[in-house]
Amino acid sequence: MLDLFPPEGRQEIGEGAVLLHGRALAHQHALLAAIETIAARSPFRRMVTPGGFQMSVAMTNCGRVGWVTDRSGYRYDPNDPETGTPWPDMPEVFATLAREAAREAGFDGFAPEACLVNRYEPGTRLSLHQDKDERNYAHPVVSVSLGLPATFQFGGLKRSDRPTKVPLQHGDVVVWGGPSRLAFHGVAALKDGEHPLTGRRRYNLTFRKAL
Ligand code: SIN
Ligand code: FE2
Repeated sequence: MLDLFPPEGRQEIGEGAVLLHGRALAHQHALLAAIETIAARSPFRRMVTPGGFQMSVAMTNCGRVGWVTDRSGYRYDPNDPETGTPWPDMPEVFATLAREAAREAGFDGFAPEACLVNRYEPGTRLSLHQDKDERNYAHPVVSVSLGLPATFQFGGLKRSDRPTKVPLQHGDVVVWGGPSRLAFHGVAALKDGEHPLTGRRRYNLTFRKAL
């Protein structure tokens, strides 16, 4: 088969938005082990949107604050509402990967306080949205894919802008910032499959400078 992108290649998917193919592969085992540790303290849960819909993606967080949604709205919270205690600390391997990937994409000095951990199962999807609950948009979003492949939908600044379909594989890292910071994005329904490290699951780590 023709290999369109080398494993460590770089693909511009928008202005200020870049896909770093395989950038997280060297850390795959440490990242997955850390997800287990985080979930043992702050379990994955399906949150409810302000409109009252239960999300299909299961989520948890680590870092100084975590992204949560419930009937009262979206927010960053220093505590896990399920446990009533602070979110697990952000593991060093997470913070280092996020900072280095951001720098390679052209965003120096990225020091995220928040890491949202998403867990997808076959059929699970994330509808088009903007990441806009952060206090400033000068910093990028860094997103790490692990496990089953997915189709990332990367659109423009208007919901009606037709999104580009970007295949994401285990170990890929996407960084979007600058003119793309508020781009609409989402994840198409996960296709069934079996990944040697995660089984019938995909994990995504989303790093943001929230405060
Ligand atoms: C997100 O937008 O929060 C997640 C993106 C992804 O799962 O790749
Ligand atoms: Fe997002």
